Amino acid sequence: MNATSWSLSGKTALVTGATSGLGRAAAFRLASQGAEVIVHGRNAARGVQVVEEIELAGGHARFVAADLSDTAEAIALAEQAGDVDILVNNAGLAWFGPSDQLSAGTLDELFTGNVESAYLLTSSLAPAMADRGDGAIVSVSSMAANVGLAGGAAYSATKAALSALTRAWAAEFSPRGVRVNAVAPGPVATAGAKGDTAALGRTTIMGRPGTEEEIADAIGFLASPASSYITGVTLAVDGGRAAI
Ligand SMILES: NC(=O)c1ccc[n+]([C@@H]2O[C@H](COP(=O)([O-])OP(=O)(O)OC[C@H]3O[C@@H](n4cnc5c(N)ncnc54)[C@H](OP(=O)(O)O)[C@@H]3O)[C@@H](O)[C@H]2O)c1
Repeated sequence: MNATSWSLSGKTALVTGATSGLGRAAAFRLASQGAEVIVHGRNAARGVQVVEEIELAGGHARFVAADLSDTAEAIALAEQAGDVDILVNNAGLAWFGPSDQLSAGTLDELFTGNVESAYLLTSSLAPAMADRGDGAIVSVSSMAANVGLAGGAAYSATKAALSALTRAWAAEFSPRGVRVNAVAPGPVATAGAKGDTAALGRTTIMGRPGTEEEIADAIGFLASPASSYITGVTLAVDGGRAAI
């Protein structure tokens, strides 16, 4: 293994939803690999805290707030971020329950928050990466995109959409040096996790939930030159659950 191939020194990374959970862990991971990280979220207090913690650990970061349920704010975030080398489309929300109890408004929120925001950010930032001939995009899909979970129809569809976008964007941008991949995490006990994470973890081959760091490691790999021949892939980081 070439240790330098994991280095993100000199790179700028935008991580959406980095004020909490998987995004926060990914922000720390990319900063530890040497990237300057733009920490995004809605909650400024937690955003500033994440920035301070990254800097205390020797990294570099700044916070940008945007509500990605508002398409104008998603586009403004891309403008404020400027020339980024790495985009992690992590921000998202989940809803689980009987399909006839999902309101049209919440269905709309799921697709806006999980799909449309990633689409707008990627379509705004990837062309400049392609012009520079270098970039990495990692979207956070879900195990729910790969296995049928009762109550998860709409959420699963949003996450499967991210995998479809990942393949199409790889075809569109990778010939010009921008790798586009996704991770599909299994259950991880975060503030945003829905349902019984421990019980869902027991259904995996590994018999346990994942940790934020295990998901962040996969994101750090796909964001770095260590994965230089990988594009268009959704990497399952789910204790093997999608394999059975
Ligand atoms: N945890 C799991 O088991 C699991 C499994 C598979 C996939 N995922 C996916 O992983 C991603 C992160 O989830 P998590 O579990 O880490 O949840 P989390 O702890 O609740 O974090 C969600 C993050 O997204 C941000 N966010 C949510 N809606 C937003 C919006 N409309 N505009 C701007 N920011 C928004 C939040 O920002 P603020 O708090 O600042 O508002 C927060 O930083 C999601 O896409 C989720 O679907 C999670």
